[in-house]
Amino acid sequence: MTHPPHHHVVPGLAAQGRIALTRDQLVAWGTDFGASARPPLVVAISGELGAGKTTLVQAICAGAGVEEPVTSPTFALVHRYHGATAAVYHLDLYRLGTPAELTNIGWDEIVNAHALVLIEWPERAGARLPPNTVPIDLEYDDRDADRRLLLAG
Ligand SMILES: Nc1ncnc2c1ncn2[C@@H]1O[C@H](COP(=O)(O)OP(=O)(O)OP(=O)(O)O)[C@@H](O)[C@H]1O
Ligand SMILES: [Mg+2]
Repeated sequence: MTHPPHHHVVPGLAAQGRIALTRDQLVAWGTDFGASARPPLVVAISGELGAGKTTLVQAICAGAGVEEPVTSPTFALVHRYHGATAAVYHLDLYRLGTPAELTNIGWDEIVNAHALVLIEWPERAGARLPPNTVPIDLEYDDRDADRRLLLAG
């Protein structure tokens, strides 16, 4: 008996797949994501300077029921908010020196908390990023200055 040729369920070019979103569309996507998120959940949001990471975090926080103003934790590295069902942490690791410094900001407690954890510049955490982190990447769209390319999962 011969077997039919194997077909990949995921198309070969899937790794290049992105969706191009305007700011309003990204905010709507993020708000839905935040409303649907079931903590505990750690989300790594990567992307260049100005790619829209904080914009997305603010939308996710709004969807998760955060009513306080969400501002970049550039110097504190971490802000904690009250979401509708769980705490929401927003980390910006841009100014982190080495992953070892994460201990000073309570990293192990934060990533093990029953919380929604949103991390900008997650690559700075190196191997300390938890294995089940959900990756989201934002990129500039060289075809349209008003859009950003989003890759999630
Ligand atoms: N489609 C888009 N999605 C998100 N932001 C957009 C879009 N188009 C334009 N922008 C603008 O790009 C900027 C993104 O800034 P934001 O602070 O969210 O980026 P960031 O990735 O957090 O930057 P940083 O690396 O400095 O933390 C905002 O001024 C926003 O209005
Ligand atoms: Mg930012």
